[in-house]
Parts: sequence; C-alpha cells; structure tokens
Amino acid sequence: MCDDVSLRAIADAEGTPLYVYSAAEIRARYAALDEAFSTYPHRLHYAFKANSTLAITRLLCGLGAAADVNSVWELEVARRAGFPATDIVFTGVGKSLQELECAVPLGLKAINVESAGELSRIEAIAAQRGQPARIAIRINPDIDAKSHPHISTGLRVNKFGIPADLARELAASVAGRPALRLVAVHVHVGSQITSIEPLARAAAFVAELVASLPSTVGPLEYVDLGGGLGIAYDGGTAVTPKQYAAALLEPIRPTGLPIVIEPGRSLLGPAGTLLARVIDIKPRTASSEFVVIDAGMTELMRPALYEAFHRIEPVMPRSGPNRQYEIVGPVCESSDVVGRDRVLPPLEVGDLVAVRDAGAYGSAMASNYNRRPFPVEVLVEAGRWNVIRRRQTVEDMLSLES
Ligand SMILES: Cc1ncc(COP(=O)(O)O)c(C=O)c1O
Repeated sequence: MCDDVSLRAIADAEGTPLYVYSAAEIRARYAALDEAFSTYPHRLHYAFKANSTLAITRLLCGLGAAADVNSVWELEVARRAGFPATDIVFTGVGKSLQELECAVPLGLKAINVESAGELSRIEAIAAQRGQPARIAIRINPDIDAKSHPHISTGLRVNKFGIPADLARELAASVAGRPALRLVAVHVHVGSQITSIEPLARAAAFVAELVASLPSTVGPLEYVDLGGGLGIAYDGGTAVTPKQYAAALLEPIRPTGLPIVIEPGRSLLGPAGTLLARVIDIKPRTASSEFVVIDAGMTELMRPALYEAFHRIEPVMPRSGPNRQYEIVGPVCESSDVVGRDRVLPPLEVGDLVAVRDAGAYGSAMASNYNRRPFPVEVLVEAGRWNVIRRRQTVEDMLSLES
C-alpha cells in the first residue's frame, strides 16, 4: 500500500515501470524538518534537482518551501510551480553566460557564486542593467563528507566552490563593486551524508569565515548551509531532523544570522517508490537466478551510477523459502543491476516489485537510453492517486527530431 491505496491497483491501471509518491509523506517530512529548526530564523529551500516534477514542487511551494535550483531550466520550472524569484537561490558549478543573462535580471534571493570569473560575469551583466545582483559566495571548506565520492562536493579537489582565502578576498572586493550585493556565504559538502560530523564541521567553517570577514563587508542577510542530510536506504535509522538542526544551529547561533538549508533527498527520497514488473527469470549461478524487471538504469540510475543500494520488495510476497536473486534491468549494459545478491521470497514472471526510497534522484535522473520512455509518475493523496506525469511516448521523443 501507499498510504491507503493499493500499489497493485495503481500498477494495473497505469502500467509499469511507474513512480508512486506519497503526498502525506512529503508533507510529514517537510513539517518535521521545519519544526526541527523552529527555534531559530530559517528557510527551507527545496533542492529541485532531487525531483522537479511540477506537482511535487507545487506541493512543497504550498507548504511554504523556498527553492534551490541548479540551472535556468529548473529555475523556470520553479517559477511555473509558483515560487517567487525572491524565494529562489541559484547554485551550479557551471552557469553559462546565457543562463546568467537570464537569471540576473530576475532579482533572485541569491546567485550562489562558484568562482572569481563567475562573479565578474554576474557583475558585468548587473552593471549593464544598472540593477545590483544579490550574490552568495559558495565556499569550498575542504571537508570530507564521507559519502560516495561521486556525491561528495566539499573537498578542495572537488570542482565546487571557492577556497576560504579567495572567498574572503572576493567578499572584501564586493564592498567596492556597486553592481554586486553580497547577501550570504554558502556551503554544500555533499549528499547522502549519514553522519552529523561533516555537516557540523561545514557549519562551523561557515561561522568562522563569516566572523573573519573584514568590517568593510557589510552585514550578511543569512548563511546557506546547503543540503546533504542522508536517509536510511537500508531501512535502518538515519540522522534525525532534530539532530541535524542541533548540529547546524550550535555553530551558527553566535553569528546571529538566519539559516537557509537546501534539502532534497531527505524530503523526497523515502516518499517515492519505483514499481516494476518481473519480465524474466533465468539461471545465474548454482544458487542464484537473474530476475529481469521492466525498470533499470534508465528509470533509476543510482545503482548503476554509484552502486547505490535500494531495498527491493515483492508487492505481494509469495509463500515459500527465500531465494537468491540478482535483480537486473532491461537495459543493454552490464552495469544495469538494480539490486545485487538479494534474498527475497520467491518471484514469478509478472510479479510486481517495489524499489524503495526512489523519490529523490530517481525520475529526475531518468534517460531515454535504448529509447526507453520516461515512466509514468503518480501522486497518492487523500486515498486516491493522480497521474502527475504521463508516460512518455515515442511520438514525444521523436517530436524533437527532424
Ligand atoms: C548545492 C546543493 N544544494 C542542495 C543539494 C541537495 O542535497 P540533498 O538532496 O542531499 O539534500 C545538492 C545536491 O547535491 C546541492 O548540490
């Protein structure tokens, strides 16, 4: 079940592969995070990259979330979802000139700047328009997030942010650059961070940097501590919103500055499931079989991309002794393994399986490889479901081609 709705009924009606999201779970997760920071001025900027489906971002907008976007295309979706420009921060290690020309005139809450060159490009556009740009400097604190290397962003060798010394210099320079307004310092050290220590260290790093800024730098409006809070993909326990808030607030409180955070995964991940059907079973080793399902790296890239673990469960478990399965997708790549060496109740062709915790970085990272269409997505709310994104068709794909 997803809340009170049968997953089998949804799959029978809409077909598979299929993403199912629980509106109640998204609401509950947003409320828990918001409540955890309630003793301190704060704003939750939902990270669109986790899942930017219009219905979901509208739901979050309605709950009072602000937005964190990583491209002008996410920015456009955010505006269409109802987020005012003044509630949007724009991050991204490679904002093209075209993107900056589009973003600067909008009067965003901040453009999070990733290099001295980018700062100059923003300045030139703002000066030409005679409208100062609000910017935050993204620092690279050289902190190991201890997450998967592909989603760790806080080490000096990672491409993100500006080292502290240069960040301080740039912040000081902004005082003499009338086309720029420095409103915040930003940090984001990685995603799926499962221990509190790197998050607390990054917050302390920001607090120290803010305290060390020369007095010529006017007062900042807030600090932006990015996203990164991990979830328990194995079904165990994760850092709680309260522990997370306490770890960030302790170092930041003395600055007196409001906090912005950019949560993605922790709001959406556990609120979504990918439903797939078994399309084939064949022998693998003496003790295990391949189970081929109709969803793979094209629908959920995380296992192939970072050997990410997602629990996989039969929707209607059959009786009988557990069996050992290698659960693979249909895509023509050996890396298209959704679950390695899983021990599950017996499966048969046609059975439905649920790939859990797929709400974040699931559909958002889908591709059309092998000309596989983007899957249908439904949102369960108040005992019923609505299609929030229909399944892509070959016509949809070919409509871009000539
Ligand atoms: C700058 C920035 N903010 C926020 C996020 C969201 O992170 P998460 O989904 O781990 O909360 C990311 C993702 O990596 C990011 O790069």
